[in-house]
Amino acid sequence: MMKHEILEKNIGLLALFMVLAVSVGGLTQIVPLFFQDVTTKPIEGMKPRSALELEGRDVYIANGCVGCHSQMIRPFRAETERYGHYSVAGESVWDHPFLWGSKRTGPDLARVGGLYSNDWHRMHLINPRSVVPESVMPGYPFLEHTPLDGEQTAKKMQVLHNLGVPYTDQDIAGAAAAVKGKTEMDALVAYLQGLGTLIKSKR
Ligand code: HEC
Repeated sequence: MMKHEILEKNIGLLALFMVLAVSVGGLTQIVPLFFQDVTTKPIEGMKPRSALELEGRDVYIANGCVGCHSQMIRPFRAETERYGHYSVAGESVWDHPFLWGSKRTGPDLARVGGLYSNDWHRMHLINPRSVVPESVMPGYPFLEHTPLDGEQTAKKMQVLHNLGVPYTDQDIAGAAAAVKGKTEMDALVAYLQGLGTLIKSKR
């Protein structure tokens, strides 16, 4: 009997060898990514999000925007023509958790920063149909009337700092003051306007 036949006829042994083969393959592909500059270092000129943008990111998470919008431009012509330069790993090294998403009911937002004015975003978020008549996106008018309390802002920044985001003590000390008097709408718009602006997009 050939040795390989022993393996094929013994389901326990076969399963074991399959796990081994997949593990070796996985490890050789995945582990190096933790040590390569291209996947672990921020891109040139990157700054941590401001306190307001950081709160905006949480508004984005809390309202489920990621359920309809990806933030991941793939390196294909059809994507880069529409959305601009493809996303690179260094742009998201400080994001915990990532908001790459996979569902695109609406367009990708990875480079939406600077594409529209703040006023456009406000009107669009209050009632998308007011600026895009055929839109199926829900309105979020309550964001205008929801103040940020800023109680947790410093703590959030401290946690991110512990995870390697280079916030300074000054940033953290000034966090509550930076979001004082702002609404969730202000924060969300600030966050959107900061998305993907470091790499110049063609659009
Ligand atoms: C049910 C799906 C859905 C949800 C949830 C949703 N959107 Fe949208 N969004 C869309 C669709 C569809 C469009 C395209 C039509 C339009 O511009 O309104 C869009 C467009 C946009 C645009 C304009 C993008 C561009 O390139 O023109 C922005 C910005 C945006 N959404 C932000 C948000 C934010 C922020 C949230 C969460 C508060 C959100 N969306 C939630 C479906 C959704």
